[in-house]
Amino acid sequence: MPVVPIFVKACLAQPVDRIPVWIMRQAGRYLPEYRNLRQKTPFLTLCKSPGLATEVTLQPLERFGMDAAILFSDILLLLEAMGVELAFDEKVGPRLGKGESGEERVRSISAPDPVQEMGYVMDAIRQIKGSINEEVALIGFSGAPFTLATYLIEGGSTRDFYATKSFMYQQPSAFHRLMETLADALDAFLKAQIEAGVDALQLFDTWAMVLSPKDYREFVLPHMQRIVAGLKGEGVPTIHYSLGTSTLLEEMEQIGTDVLSLDWKIDIGEARQRLGPDRAVQGNLDPFALFQDGERLEKSVQEILEKGARWPGYIFNLGHGIHQKTPVESVQRLVDTVHAFPVGDAAGGSAE
Ligand code: CP3
Repeated sequence: MPVVPIFVKACLAQPVDRIPVWIMRQAGRYLPEYRNLRQKTPFLTLCKSPGLATEVTLQPLERFGMDAAILFSDILLLLEAMGVELAFDEKVGPRLGKGESGEERVRSISAPDPVQEMGYVMDAIRQIKGSINEEVALIGFSGAPFTLATYLIEGGSTRDFYATKSFMYQQPSAFHRLMETLADALDAFLKAQIEAGVDALQLFDTWAMVLSPKDYREFVLPHMQRIVAGLKGEGVPTIHYSLGTSTLLEEMEQIGTDVLSLDWKIDIGEARQRLGPDRAVQGNLDPFALFQDGERLEKSVQEILEKGARWPGYIFNLGHGIHQKTPVESVQRLVDTVHAFPVGDAAGGSAE
């Protein structure tokens, strides 16, 4: 019988004997061993070298003992595979394209053959799976169409989403066509990751928060539903991630992923109440809570556990990526506090 990792059980809202924990951006610049490697190697080279991507993926696990590994990669690599140039600038962040207009970039992309264009991702997945303990889950991922569309249309990060929203409101049919193209690319990419061996898939829709519930329902939800419906029956749980979207919780519930991530702006007890006992949730510590002293941090973690783990289907995590200045001792304290939490008849037992 193959071992089912506790992370996967929690995704499926099944009882567990301890609460699983991992940390968004757990492999990254707050880790000295990552910074060491990065001094010698550009970020995109790390992502595209399966041996190095495997090494970086395993760094936080070896140090802290999380219950899940996340593939070391980036959501923007899919846009590169679709035909747009990608660069990471130390000061301004990601840059897409070579100065064309957003519309030109939109017209230039096409859905790739992921196995052909992103073989390095599937190679890394196979190497990581060959190196981790079978009780640790490997999470594959992708950006969700809306968040990818913002980077494609804006050409990088943005504060006001001016270009994205102008395009969406002025050319709604072209916007839907773009979302469809991205959804097609995601379908093939996510299925290739499953084929290579991931145990769960997370869809990052970081910027969905800028949409009203009505626009979310019109421009995003149908595309998300199509992607997730296409993954049903593939035997791998799905996780939706977004930031600042407690105003969209009921819309996001309709996407149909097994798990919803929550940021720190919503009380996790209230979120679980609104979603009911069958929907697993992940979150929701403020990444800056790791800058508190150890005792206060422990208390913040326990408060979330008490409310989050009252029903099965709970995974401890931060509400967004860990900050690069985070003290590494805080991460160890967080993981140990979660693992010491007595599950009792809460997440291990029946719903109230
Ligand atoms: O450990 C992990 O979580 C897995 C790897 C991972 C990265 N990015 C590595 C990374 C994952 C899952 C992502 C997702 C991602 N990338 C998102 C969605 C989640 C979120 O944070 O909202 C987004 C929006 C991106 C795009 C992106 N990548 C930006 C805007 C930047 C620059 C800003 C920054 O944080 O440096 C990146 C770079 C990036 N992606 C780094 C890492 C470790 C830093 C690279 C470095 O300089 O070493």
